Amino acid sequence: MQQSTSAVSDGTTSGWLLELDLTGVARGRQAEELSDRLRRAVRTGRLPAGTRLPASRTLAGDLAVSRGVVVRAYEQLGAEGYFSARLGSGTVVADVPDAPAASVRRRRRPPTNPGLPSGGTFPRAAWARCAARALSRLTDADFGYGDPAGWPPLREELCRYLGRVRAVLAPPERIVVVNGFGQSTRLVADVLRQGDVDRIAVEDPGSIGMREQFERASVRCVGVPVDGDGIRVDALGAEGVRAVVVTPAHQFPTGVVASAERRHALLEWARRTGSVVVEDDYDAEYRYDRTPVGALQGLGPDVVVYGGSVSKTLAPALRLGWLVAPEHLAETFTEAKYSADLGRGVLDQATMAEFLACGEMDRHIRRMALEYRRRRDRLVEAVEAAFPHWELSGTAAGLHLLLHPPTENAEALAAVAQECGLDARPLSQYSIGPCPPQGLVVGYGHQRPDTIAAAVMQLHRRLTTSR
Ligand SMILES: Cc1ncc(COP(=O)(O)O)c(C=O)c1O
Repeated sequence: MQQSTSAVSDGTTSGWLLELDLTGVARGRQAEELSDRLRRAVRTGRLPAGTRLPASRTLAGDLAVSRGVVVRAYEQLGAEGYFSARLGSGTVVADVPDAPAASVRRRRRPPTNPGLPSGGTFPRAAWARCAARALSRLTDADFGYGDPAGWPPLREELCRYLGRVRAVLAPPERIVVVNGFGQSTRLVADVLRQGDVDRIAVEDPGSIGMREQFERASVRCVGVPVDGDGIRVDALGAEGVRAVVVTPAHQFPTGVVASAERRHALLEWARRTGSVVVEDDYDAEYRYDRTPVGALQGLGPDVVVYGGSVSKTLAPALRLGWLVAPEHLAETFTEAKYSADLGRGVLDQATMAEFLACGEMDRHIRRMALEYRRRRDRLVEAVEAAFPHWELSGTAAGLHLLLHPPTENAEALAAVAQECGLDARPLSQYSIGPCPPQGLVVGYGHQRPDTIAAAVMQLHRRLTTSR
């Protein structure tokens, strides 16, 4: 049912009142002119369906015309079907077939990626309880502009959480609360450019969205290959860059875990060359078959900018993340955040602080780790049964894995797999270099376990019948 929004109570009156201004219109033409303008406002979407119009007396007062002028205009538009009079709710804009919808048009396709978490398991009740508690505890002062680095109690909770779960050395004064890792990327770009650095090394293959963020901020991405131990630090040295982004806990998208040697080599390179390492710790909380590897930042808090978010653990929709800066850069990053948007909204931050403090985050992650492991097992079992010659890798953690079908044309295979209901993308799409690796990146976190096996069986049928 169409919900009505009031043009008076939601404060929108003043906006379209300007368009209705009848100053200078001859008295005899006022009703007709008002009808024309209201009709145009409906047709152009300025007055969307469901909008409740001001009472005729109120609008007449605002426009300094007699009430009869407004009544006649309302009646005219009522007769034409633009307005409807509802008992008890006054005059409301009707649903006019060709009028633009009230909703905002999507400008861009929202980013999709194979690492989406399950939306259906978002802990709605626990989040709502924490939100209510947090709201009741906020002081009056909390409703002003907050600390651009983030709400202090959340930074204290994050310090404990990141230290406990990821072995990150994160004193609250070095944490900046951000709108997800996407914003950390932009802040890193801003800070690099302040230091006249306009190139950054990125893993190849690696995240497309992150590369886009850097390029948009005029920082050029230089691809550096990844092997079975993580990023090739020798190749990094050869590029002569002063900054690099890595995903050492679970390389995106190959799933490789950086070896201890490679971690040390990377930190040694950063210290020797005065460079900065940006650690994207995007899905490290979900680890299934091996003991978790702590964050790189714990070994190199002096050279690592650590970034994380709730986009895998809770939901990308929250746009909530954190950045832990080396001591000498903490103030610079806080300034960059302030310049970007004056700081993140306090209500979500307070809810998140409560969610961490009362143990809901730990409970949710424990529950979801079991669930994601189940989904991963379903996918692995189904692939092993249907395609015994396909190798799998990157299965130990996260929300996606890699398949290695013996085909030269992973693009075509990915398209068929998608038609069968698998979230599969060609690995080559994440590559920068001229010889992209072949394989399929398959997301399972957001796919119900019962649909995973069915999708793989369907793919098997499609491939065997097309031979
Ligand atoms: C490699 C990688 N890093 C980080 C993120 C998280 O980004 P954000 O926190 O902006 O949602 C994602 C999201 O899918 C990702 O794929």
